[in-house]
Amino acid sequence: MADISRRSLLVGNLTAPLARRTLPEETEPGLREYAARTGLLYGAAAAWPALRDDEHYAQSFARECNILVPENVLKMGLVHPEPDAYRFEPPDFMADFCQRHDMRMRGHTLVWHQQIWPWLKTHVNAQNAQKHLEQHIHTVAGRYRGRMHSWDVVNEAIHLPDGREDGLRITPFLELLGPGYIELAFRAAREADPNAKLTYNDYGLDYDTPQQEAKRQAVLRLLRRLKERDVPVHAFGMQAHLDWSEFRHFKPETLQRFFREIASLGLEIYITELDVSDRDLPDDVAERDEAIAGVYETYLKAALGEPAVKAVLTWGLTDRYTWLAGRRKRASGTPVRVLPLDREYRRKPAWRAIRDALRSAPARTA
Ligand code: XIL
Repeated sequence: MADISRRSLLVGNLTAPLARRTLPEETEPGLREYAARTGLLYGAAAAWPALRDDEHYAQSFARECNILVPENVLKMGLVHPEPDAYRFEPPDFMADFCQRHDMRMRGHTLVWHQQIWPWLKTHVNAQNAQKHLEQHIHTVAGRYRGRMHSWDVVNEAIHLPDGREDGLRITPFLELLGPGYIELAFRAAREADPNAKLTYNDYGLDYDTPQQEAKRQAVLRLLRRLKERDVPVHAFGMQAHLDWSEFRHFKPETLQRFFREIASLGLEIYITELDVSDRDLPDDVAERDEAIAGVYETYLKAALGEPAVKAVLTWGLTDRYTWLAGRRKRASGTPVRVLPLDREYRRKPAWRAIRDALRSAPARTA
């Protein structure tokens, strides 16, 4: 047996049976096929090193996805851990993986206030911040020039609780460079990769509540301002981290109205980080899976009604690897069931919900 397959049996949950050597057999095509039929992309965030070491995980991506986004390895602090050192091996592996499996790739993310350069505090100041940021963007986005479907250039730049009139989050780059850091990042990204769709990505915009409405308005103001200044921004990324217990606040019309406004600015829309927390649902698996599937289906049917929505990515593919396992632990300690595939790579009701939403989406023209 080749080394790699032995290793893959050892990763993941050691209490799970180690017997499975092939993926569950399926008679139905993968989600990528349903997406492609309507001119859409479906994909997921890929964890490292699982994509390299767990062959069933890799096979599931190949089967289900026609787009992939690295969950962490392109973030500032991971890809650029020292002022003069980059770590490209993980994202290079993912880019090659995408090429081998005829998948597109998204870049996530060039500028964010989290998982930031560990050397920022010791090396970066108001005098050199622009140079460092431009160098980072030129180097990272430049390396994948021509190979990225899209790039999240700036992530989560709006945060109303920070109290600024323009709604911008107070981040290291805002403090070092002022609000112009956003424009600067998009222009540098355009120089580095003129073909990628440059995206502004954010969260907390899904529900019909006063807070989320205020944030939607702030995002729209930001996007309008960028367009007015001819900044190269091509798309909006809707993270869509949902929670079953909050979903009563969801109104399809509200989401659609927001998407219409974004589309009217000439932007594409991607659902970039969709997942649905099951934290407050009962343990019963069948009941829980149905409830989570219902959220996926309702949300996606509303979202895909907007023709500007061109891609759907879930934030992970299998319950074996999901940030919600740590972030939204269940009180009873039972493992979360929040993604399309279960821990053994079997398709769940959430998978069928996504399939149905993709299948009933109006065909995309471009
Ligand atoms: C999360 C990853 O899933 C975790 O593994 C990591 O520890 C923290 O970041 N919004 C984003 C993503 O834009 O980058 C975040 O990803 C989830 C929230």
